Amino acid sequence: MGSNHNRLRAAELRKLIEHHNYRYYVLDSPEISDAEYDELFDELMRLEKEHPELVTPDSPTQRIGAPPLAKFPSHKHSIPMMSLNKVTTRDEFLEFDKRVRGLIGGEGGPIEYTIEPKYDGLAVALIYRNGVFETAATRGDGVTGEEVKENLKTIKNIPLRLIGKNPPELLEVRGEVIIAKADFEKFNKQRSEAGLELFANPRNMAAGSLRQLDSGITAQRPLRFIGYGIGETKGIPLDGHFETMNLVRRFGIPISSYLKKFTNTDDLIAYYERILGERDSFDFDIDGIVIKVNSYEQQAIAGVLSRSPRWAVAWKFPAVQKTTIVEKIEVQVGRTGTLTPVAHLKPVQVGGVTVSRSTLHNEQEIERKDIRVGDTVVVQRAGDVIPEIVTVIVEKRPSGTRKFAMPEKCPVCGSAVQRVEGEVAVRCVSLYCKAQLVEKIFHFASRGAMDIEGLGYKTVEALIEKGFVKDVADLYLLPTRKTEILEMERMGEKSFNNLVASLERSKKRELPRLIFALGILGVGETTANLLAQHFGTLERLMKAGEEEFSQARGIGPVIARSVYRFFSDKNNLAVIRKLEKLGVEFQEGEHPSEGPLKGKTFVLTGTLEAYTRTQAQKIIEQLGGHVTSSVSKKTDFVVAGADPGSKLDKARTLGVKVLDENGFTKLVGRQ
Ligand code: IVH
Repeated sequence: MGSNHNRLRAAELRKLIEHHNYRYYVLDSPEISDAEYDELFDELMRLEKEHPELVTPDSPTQRIGAPPLAKFPSHKHSIPMMSLNKVTTRDEFLEFDKRVRGLIGGEGGPIEYTIEPKYDGLAVALIYRNGVFETAATRGDGVTGEEVKENLKTIKNIPLRLIGKNPPELLEVRGEVIIAKADFEKFNKQRSEAGLELFANPRNMAAGSLRQLDSGITAQRPLRFIGYGIGETKGIPLDGHFETMNLVRRFGIPISSYLKKFTNTDDLIAYYERILGERDSFDFDIDGIVIKVNSYEQQAIAGVLSRSPRWAVAWKFPAVQKTTIVEKIEVQVGRTGTLTPVAHLKPVQVGGVTVSRSTLHNEQEIERKDIRVGDTVVVQRAGDVIPEIVTVIVEKRPSGTRKFAMPEKCPVCGSAVQRVEGEVAVRCVSLYCKAQLVEKIFHFASRGAMDIEGLGYKTVEALIEKGFVKDVADLYLLPTRKTEILEMERMGEKSFNNLVASLERSKKRELPRLIFALGILGVGETTANLLAQHFGTLERLMKAGEEEFSQARGIGPVIARSVYRFFSDKNNLAVIRKLEKLGVEFQEGEHPSEGPLKGKTFVLTGTLEAYTRTQAQKIIEQLGGHVTSSVSKKTDFVVAGADPGSKLDKARTLGVKVLDENGFTKLVGRQ
């Protein structure tokens, strides 16, 4: 196929993917299934991999993060980012309305208000020049923020290029970076199982994710953007907030689907009440609504105070809190052995949902709040899905209660628990803890991991009970125990044969799934993928030193330590060898030599501005190329930074292609 054909197809795919992103993220009305979308995406990935020169900086495949920064550059907002005055009652809102009417008077005609939810996240500004995403910054103190361009580029619902043929010369869109409640819960659950510190709420998680100097980490967080205003613009009509935000939406930037315009105050109040009533069914935390005077002209007449406009107000929702009684504190043991205390509560309705349990997270959390069995506590669902105990009403504490103490023995297997310095989690580290073994095996066999069918929870429990399975490798010995297994409940000849076939198939899973299946603390599917990509083989991963992990993109020090520790453990190594012996193939996953720069040899000379030597080398290797130290006829590219050495001369003599920093950045697709 001709190169022109590929170029056209890549451009077409990018367009299609952008279109479907818009349908999905902005209009919330997809035209194709997820699988069909994935197909388009995979085709583009493949094409770009085979032809790296086709990669463009705004390609949807480029949302994977850039090399880590030492510090965020600062960004001065050309128009300050203000905050909002608050009201909490209808009367206070009516006062605001009266004040606005007094300020604007009859001059500007009737007053229209817009109303939209107040999303609880982090304010940022996105800047598009001639339709292309140029930069982005946090609000900071309102005047100066931090440039978080690379991090925001990883957010999937932010378009890297605006839709339409005539984009404005300049468009600064302001909005909130948020995390859906469900995504937050899922993420925290994984962290809890991994014994990692939990995020207190979606807002904290959004803030923490946005402040990562390594955008590779941000790329793994489920961040979303929602626009609620504009900053500096050139080349768009400026009538009113409502009209402008709808234009912003047509450009492909998501805005709230709840944005509405009212002239009548009673209708507006009724709409506030409707949103208040529905707040729990929102995907995102909202802590109130924002009311703005629609017309920009009238906004200008009303004017601003030092930090907030006089033409807008946040009407905050009351927090959803109730009191109830702690009936019991149960300690659960997760797959990784982490002990998690859970409070059983006298059932109570909070914000329309019955709450009867609340995770107490860890020992420190209980200690801090001093929660005891018998206590009357305040529970809150402040928009959060997981109910949380806010505080104990100490005055109502019955006599004879005792401070909660974490058990010294595992509630499941009875072995002594361990505390690791610097970690909040208390863990059962026994190899024979049934709670962990069931969970570990169940995880090993799960869909995203080795995908072994026919191993339901009850079956796994029974196999452990009978002593057939003491570690994950023992699963592969099950085919040799046919007679005994057929005696078990729920196991007929047919299901046994299916299990055997499924076990056989599972021996050929790709490397990322095998890594994920091992159940290493903190290693979910995404991290497993990153590890597989970086190390290429299980053998190399097993032998890696702790410091080697810090060079793998997206792997932070906590996970690095955890993986290193996992592979330093003799028992774990024995299980892995046993797996190998029983026929599990340690296939090469996405080996680096399979990338778009496959087979290409690079020589680096001089100083690059945006990359250290090691970073540049890493990038090349991740894309499948390799770096050597001297130039020869076999060298494909010499990358020359500032003050290049004799290698550049040699490249010229031999006719080897020379790339300056720009050329290099283009080639690796990271502009
Ligand atoms: S408008 C001049 N609209 O609330 C008006 N802000 O206290 C500036 N926020 O920093 C903000 N949802 O982070 C506006 N629909 C919305 C909002 C919203 C959330 C946040 C934003 C801002 C803070 C103001």
